[in-house]
Amino acid sequence: MAVDLLLGLQWGDEGKGKIVDVLTKDYNIIARFQGGPNAGHTLEFDGMKHVLHTIPSGIFHDNAINIVGNGVVIDPVIFKKELDNLKKFDLDIQSKLLISRKAHLILPTHRLLDAASEASKGKAKIGSTLKGIGPTYMDKTGRNGIRVGDLELPDWKERYRNLADKHEGMIKSFNMDIQYDLKELEEEFFEAVAVLRELKFIDSENYINTAQREGKTILAEGAQGSLLDIDFGTYPFVTSSNTTAAGACTGLGVSPSSIDKVYGIFKAYTTRVGSGPFPTELFDEDGETLARVGNEFGATTGRPRRCGWLDLVALKYAVEINGVTELFMMKADVLSGMKTIKVCTAYEYQGERIEHLPYSIEEEYIKPIYQEFEGWEEDITKVRSADDLPQALLEYISFIEKELNVPVKVVSVGPDRTQTIHR
Ligand code: IMP
Repeated sequence: MAVDLLLGLQWGDEGKGKIVDVLTKDYNIIARFQGGPNAGHTLEFDGMKHVLHTIPSGIFHDNAINIVGNGVVIDPVIFKKELDNLKKFDLDIQSKLLISRKAHLILPTHRLLDAASEASKGKAKIGSTLKGIGPTYMDKTGRNGIRVGDLELPDWKERYRNLADKHEGMIKSFNMDIQYDLKELEEEFFEAVAVLRELKFIDSENYINTAQREGKTILAEGAQGSLLDIDFGTYPFVTSSNTTAAGACTGLGVSPSSIDKVYGIFKAYTTRVGSGPFPTELFDEDGETLARVGNEFGATTGRPRRCGWLDLVALKYAVEINGVTELFMMKADVLSGMKTIKVCTAYEYQGERIEHLPYSIEEEYIKPIYQEFEGWEEDITKVRSADDLPQALLEYISFIEKELNVPVKVVSVGPDRTQTIHR
């Protein structure tokens, strides 16, 4: 059986958690392939809201096995909190949640290094979630990291000590005023590691490939978004992993030829948290409306998200790099009541009109060129069939489909599982 991928096409926060949760009934295995607790995947059902950071979004369904893949970085402390939050649901976590031995661990000193690095950058800071993501991936590629499988080795604490000591030296060298009590942080860390060790560690690439041979259906769940990809995103204002389709191959050990569907998730407009270029960002009343109606606050950090119109140039780029086969439009309901809706279809770049993403999309180089669409007044949050959507929205969707040459298969009209229209 093939592996299907689910990815965010913008700067994250597209609503991947909700869609994985909706799709899980069709899959035997849900596997996260990159990122870490910088992600906040929000799920709403039965009048309750849950935010997952590391645990795959299929965890609430009885039929699915959830795997944290080798490409993910795990902070045991946050992981333990996530597990604690799940206790009230009486889920069989021991058999439903499996962890790759090759996933890297986020140490308390990685978080401190993230803080020191950001502080040292001043105004040029990335706007990191301060979860230690960058420093952990640096240790991974620098071949210094500690992996989940190392926890099974007798000398892992010695290796921990060596790495943490090295980090302390690095933190000092930043010369920033970073206050911390490492003893306290380590106490919490080792307690959390003991909880993590109660779970089943697996050789996930072997598990997933065997499952494929046995005919099991697998959905690979991405985190963040394509424009935050370490290679193809708005570098250096990106995260430290490959958020695009290729990341599923390296983050799970599945071959490119085994990938079938690629679900690309995008919001009907655009948001971004943290620093970095954002050509269609709005600083007017429309931007405020999107933020307010869309409740645009980060699920992990609570920071307000920057809001703007849909950027089709950037979306086309993401569709291409990921090989998206189906589009899922999220938060269409947030646009209800707007008189005019704008879509960026090209950029003015060095005096010329271009329709591709150039090397730099900093605002001093780029001016978005918009096409305008008529809005709609109707509240669509209770609509459950595509035929009942307002004509203006259907025209907006058709335009996007034509421009991207990929069908919009799902339109989400609210955060709840039930507010999902299949086309
Ligand atoms: P880091 O991944 O914490 O190092 O953050 C790097 C950049 O990616 C910052 O701009 C963050 O705001 C952004 N970022 C990281 N994770 C997410 C996410 O899950 N959603 C949206 N933005 C994210």
